[in-house]
Amino acid sequence: MSQQEEELTRAAYDAVADLYADTFTATEPEQPPELAMIDHFVALLGDGPRVLDAGCGAGRMLPRLAARGCRPCGVDLSPEMVRRARADHPAYPSTTGSLADLDVADETFDGVFSWYSTIHTPDDHLDAVLAELARVLRPGGHLLLAFQVGEGARDIGAVFAAHGHRVSLTRYHRGAQDVATRLEGLGMPVVARLERGPLGSEQDPQAVVIARRPAR
Ligand SMILES: C[S@@+](CC[C@H](N)C(=O)[O-])C[C@H]1O[C@@H](n2cnc3c(N)ncnc32)[C@H](O)[C@@H]1O
Repeated sequence: MSQQEEELTRAAYDAVADLYADTFTATEPEQPPELAMIDHFVALLGDGPRVLDAGCGAGRMLPRLAARGCRPCGVDLSPEMVRRARADHPAYPSTTGSLADLDVADETFDGVFSWYSTIHTPDDHLDAVLAELARVLRPGGHLLLAFQVGEGARDIGAVFAAHGHRVSLTRYHRGAQDVATRLEGLGMPVVARLERGPLGSEQDPQAVVIARRPAR
């Protein structure tokens, strides 16, 4: 993600942080198949795992991870989203930072949880972000990615214009196989994968991919 693209994403989420946090307080948009993938991810991590919610937004998934035995913390590009994460979920540390350059030592986490947070990363920057997420995983740890399926870039500013916010925000759609191939190219075998058609009011198919950093 170029610095300019990252700045646009940060500015967009800063502008809509309160709207986002007030609209989605827990797992309102999630469907049972995704929630089952989260449970499967946690089950792969062992006892009391340290989990980085990478692109945590306003932190709505932190309590869900904690309720399943994880020790979660969050990081997000948007200071306003992090402000809401800290205010709404003070039990879990959340900091501002970029997925492309985490201020975290190598091999810190048992799990890295990226819930719709690589969706603003263009294809030509995605491998670098995936490598950075893998870097902070211990050998044997697991990475989960959730994203909308499809091809190409979509301008999703209109979603927020309907609520009175003028923002510039691009979302990149991709296939589960594309993401799996990228992960495997980084030496991370895929251990579980969900790809399904739209449910309810959704307009797009959705995917969740879980990969493992091989043990040494
Ligand atoms: C669709 S929201 C999802 C937020 C949260 N995971 C959730 O499910 O509520 C995308 C989030 O990813 C964050 N994000 C996007 N690109 C990022 C990057 N390069 N580094 C860190 N966070 C990023 C945004 O700031 C935003 O909070």
